[in-house]
Amino acid sequence: MTLEPKCSEPPGPPVRAGVLTASDSGFHGQRPDRSGEVIRQRLQEEGFSVLEHAVLPDDLDALRDTLASWCDQGRFDLILTTGGTGFSPRDVTPEATVLVVEREAPGIPEAMRARSLEKTPHAMLSRARAGIRGRTLIVNMPGSPRACSECLDIILPALGHAVEVLRGDARDCAQNRSGQ
Ligand code: MTE
Repeated sequence: MTLEPKCSEPPGPPVRAGVLTASDSGFHGQRPDRSGEVIRQRLQEEGFSVLEHAVLPDDLDALRDTLASWCDQGRFDLILTTGGTGFSPRDVTPEATVLVVEREAPGIPEAMRARSLEKTPHAMLSRARAGIRGRTLIVNMPGSPRACSECLDIILPALGHAVEVLRGDARDCAQNRSGQ
């Protein structure tokens, strides 16, 4: 028996998204937030509503508090972070994310790393995590604009369905190819 995605239901309300950039230099105005901009534009092209786009320093408490607050406001289905996933001593976005989420969603960063390794061995240096708090999915993306674009290519095909399921809207999305 072969199962394939069906997902031909009419689209639900737009995904409500937030973009959070973790960058000391971006926060201090020393560098434009190109990665956050790449994510914002791409989400809008997908038909998502981007309700917030903020830049914070690489600070554990600030990232944790903002992520928790955005989730608890109930306004967001999805929060994408960018930056702070690497090995620099200031990189703490995964740690902030893990403090906030109630359930991890490891398949998302696993997919980003696995597919990104086909492009660069540096993909293994991202410590990105993903998880769920309440009805909000948080996904960490790496910090460069190109990495964000590449990782969005990988995860966007699954994000709409992820949000449908989180909202409790998903119907049976698998169909027996033979119709049996
Ligand atoms: N993933 C993809 N798809 N493309 C990339 O160019 N860069 C890597 C990695 N993931 C990269 C990528 C690099 S160079 C680093 S150091 C890590 O992400 C962490 O990046 P960050 O510290 O900016 O979050």
